[in-house]
Amino acid sequence: MLRIAIDGPGGAGKSTLAKALAKKLGMIYVDTGALYRTVGLFVDRNNVDPKDEDAVTEIIRDLEVKIAYENGNQIIYMNSEKITDEIRTPKMSMYASAVSAIPSVRSFLLDTQRKIAATENVIMDGRDIGTVILPDAEVKIFLTADPKERARRRYEELIEKGKNVTYESVLEEMNTRDTNDSQRKIAPCVPADDAVMFDNTGLTLEMSVERVIEIIGNKIQLLSK
Ligand code: DC
Repeated sequence: MLRIAIDGPGGAGKSTLAKALAKKLGMIYVDTGALYRTVGLFVDRNNVDPKDEDAVTEIIRDLEVKIAYENGNQIIYMNSEKITDEIRTPKMSMYASAVSAIPSVRSFLLDTQRKIAATENVIMDGRDIGTVILPDAEVKIFLTADPKERARRRYEELIEKGKNVTYESVLEEMNTRDTNDSQRKIAPCVPADDAVMFDNTGLTLEMSVERVIEIIGNKIQLLSK
């Protein structure tokens, strides 16, 4: 099995890079952030405060989150409802970040993530893939980029989707999430000891893919020795 873990903060380009790599290498891409976003959406639909640990723990007893693949694209099911763009809003980014700091939410989503990686060659992106979910992943990359560039990428993505946001609000939201995600007690967003650090500021997608293919090649060569 080949498991590639890509962790790093929001807007670092993890999903774009992971999708391109998965296509090139014939692997399955798993976007774990979508799972936390779906929990956030469920919590919001039930009018629960995403920071209220007890209430969130209680409400997710009524939730089942499933990952499926349709034409190679990841689809999430929230109970029987198919979830798509409704989780891609600034509000759901904040909700996902809040619920992801709750231990019961993390253990609730653990098996779903590990099960896919047990049966498929995966490129999985998130915050704790290399440290918690797949500590034995063959390749671990911690992807970063300059915060202003990350905010610009996120802003352009949202504008393209027709969302009404300003660059300043996106930057502020990103800074808050960076702090939440990297300083929380459980599974913080930090590089695994054996992760390769990769700062892709100023690089095109093609350049990043090329660099990561090189990292994967080196790692596999080392493993086969
Ligand atoms: O990658 P994303 O922006 O879709 O993730 C949304 C939030 O989910 C992020 O702010 C923190 C949380 N998350 C997490 O805690 N662990 C993961 N493996 C993936 C996401």
